[in-house]
Amino acid sequence: MVCTVIMASHPAWRSRDPGKRTPGKGHGAFFAAALRSPREVGTLLPSGPELARRLAAVIPRPGHSGRPPVVVEVGAGAGAVTAAIVQHVDEGAVVIAVEKDPELAEQLRARRLGVHVVTADAIKLPTILADHGVDFADAIVSVLPWALFGAQLQRQMLATFADALQPDGVFTAAAYSLGYWTPAARRFRRELERLFGEVLPTRTMWRHLPPAMTYVCRRPGQGGDALTVDPSR
Ligand SMILES: C[S@@+](CC[C@H](N)C(=O)[O-])C[C@H]1O[C@@H](n2cnc3c(N)ncnc32)[C@H](O)[C@@H]1O
Repeated sequence: MVCTVIMASHPAWRSRDPGKRTPGKGHGAFFAAALRSPREVGTLLPSGPELARRLAAVIPRPGHSGRPPVVVEVGAGAGAVTAAIVQHVDEGAVVIAVEKDPELAEQLRARRLGVHVVTADAIKLPTILADHGVDFADAIVSVLPWALFGAQLQRQMLATFADALQPDGVFTAAAYSLGYWTPAARRFRRELERLFGEVLPTRTMWRHLPPAMTYVCRRPGQGGDALTVDPSR
């Protein structure tokens, strides 16, 4: 069942609430979730601020046809990246944060960042979008543990996300650099290339724990801005 919670008292287009964005917010809940479901959480620490900012930086403003963008974060955890997304987008943007772990989703809801928090498996994204009266997203941001997913799940999820994007939309994913050459990570990269055509890896943030980089994926020729990210970053 998809349980959708729309924070009616906090409009989707943000409450910037800087006090709720303190680094360290939700670390206890995150650590507990990592111990509970290591293969789904994939790391002991939430994303750091630089990784979060880098993931949010590629969200277009405005979105398709000049209207405010619809942004989906899949695997939102306790909100480390959600806060950066909220800070990046302009007024009117619709931000939907999808998190499978009910306790992490509750933690994120309690931060009152002004986003729609959905407790669900991200594979249900089409239903989630429909529940919000949305056909397609302008940006999908992911910090899912892709390298821990089996080949079938990886392929199925990526195809679901690619189908849920506007033709000129952007998909961005964090990846942990130390696993870059593992078969699962290489398969992930190949699948991104097959689905999107344009896949820009960004430089590794070595001081991030664990060291991380991002992929920025678009479909060239579909009206998107090619190379709006400096690949040397
Ligand atoms: C590496 S953590 C990232 C959390 C947060 N975005 C951050 O950057 O700190 C991955 C998150 O994805 C969630 N997750 C894993 N599989 C998922 C799925 N199928 N649908 C939704 N969330 C999922 C986990 O519960 C976890 O919170």
